[in-house]
Amino acid sequence: MISELFSELEHLKENGTIKDEENFSPSFDISIVLRDIFKLSKTDYLIGKDFTVSENDYSKALQALNDLKALKPVQYITGKCEFMSLEFIVNENTLIPRPDTEILVEYILNHFKQNSNRELRILDIGTGSGCIAVSLVHYLKNARAVCIDISEEALSVAEENAKAHKLSDKITFLRHNILSGFPESDFEFDCIVSNPPYIETSVVSTLEENVKGYEPISALDGGKDGLIFYREIINSCKLKKGGLLAFEIGYNQGGTVSELFNKSGRFKDIEITKDLSGNDRVVSAVFTGGITNNNLRNTE
Ligand SMILES: C[S@@+](CC[C@H](N)C(=O)[O-])C[C@H]1O[C@@H](n2cnc3c(N)ncnc32)[C@H](O)[C@@H]1O
Repeated sequence: MISELFSELEHLKENGTIKDEENFSPSFDISIVLRDIFKLSKTDYLIGKDFTVSENDYSKALQALNDLKALKPVQYITGKCEFMSLEFIVNENTLIPRPDTEILVEYILNHFKQNSNRELRILDIGTGSGCIAVSLVHYLKNARAVCIDISEEALSVAEENAKAHKLSDKITFLRHNILSGFPESDFEFDCIVSNPPYIETSVVSTLEENVKGYEPISALDGGKDGLIFYREIINSCKLKKGGLLAFEIGYNQGGTVSELFNKSGRFKDIEITKDLSGNDRVVSAVFTGGITNNNLRNTE
C-alpha cells in the first residue's frame, strides 16, 4: 500500500534524514517523483489517498528517494522538465533547462513578433535538450532551426524533444564543435542564439553538488575566463545583415560580453536584459555586416 511508503517518509522527516533547506526542498521534490511514478493528482497526493501499488513501482519509488537523498536533481529522476510551458525530456547528457533561459527565449520572441509572418532561420549553438530551439519554433510559427552541439547524446535528446512537439520537419540537428569554426550552411541566419557553457573553469569545482555531480561538465565549463564561446561566436558568426545574435550570460558577464560585441566592429544595438533577480542575463546585438577580423581571439 502507498500508505506504507508515506509512513516511511514521515519517519525520514521526523528523524531529520529529509530536511528542507534554503535552496533544497526534498519534500517538494518527493511529491513530484511520487506523483509521477504513481500517476497521482495533486489532490490525491495531498489527502494521502491509499491504494495498492505494484512491487515494481514501489521499488522505483524507493530508488527515487535514495537518489534524492544523494542530491540527484528531480528532473533527472523523472526524466522531464518544464520550460516555456512545454514539457521537455532530459537526461544526464543534457543540462536541465533553467528559468533564466526563458528570459533569453522571451527576448527573442519579442524581437521577432513584428516579423512573425516571414520565414525565420534560427541557429541554436549548444542546444542540449533543444529547449531553446524547440520553444522558439513552437511559438514562432514560420521559424525553422538548425541545432548544433558537440554531444551526440544531447543531440539525441533534442531530436526526441522536437519529435514530441511535432517539429521534426522544421528542426535539423548537427554534431559540430563550434570552437572549430562555424558550420557550413546554404543560407544566412536571421537569428543565432546560444546559452553556451559560461562558468570559469576554476569555479566549476565549487558549484553545488547537485549541479557538478550530475550535470555534464561540458555544458558548464566556459574556459579560463568563462568567455571562450562568446569570443568565438561573436568573432566568426555568419548572420544575415540586420540579424540578431543573442546570448544567455553569467550574472557578472554583461559588461565583458558587450565589450566583445563592441570590439568586433560588426554589431550595433547592443542590449543587456536583466533576469527577475536584477542580474544581467541576456546580451544581444544586431549584425551590421562586415568581415571577421579575428581580433577577439588573442585577448584571453
Ligand atoms: C549551458 S548548456 C545549454 C543547453 C541548452 N541550450 C539550454 O539552454 O538548456 C551548453 C551546451 O553546449 C554544448 N557544448 C559544449 N561545448 C561545445 C562545443 N565546443 N561546440 C558545440 N556545443 C558545445 C554542451 O554539450 C551543452 O549542451
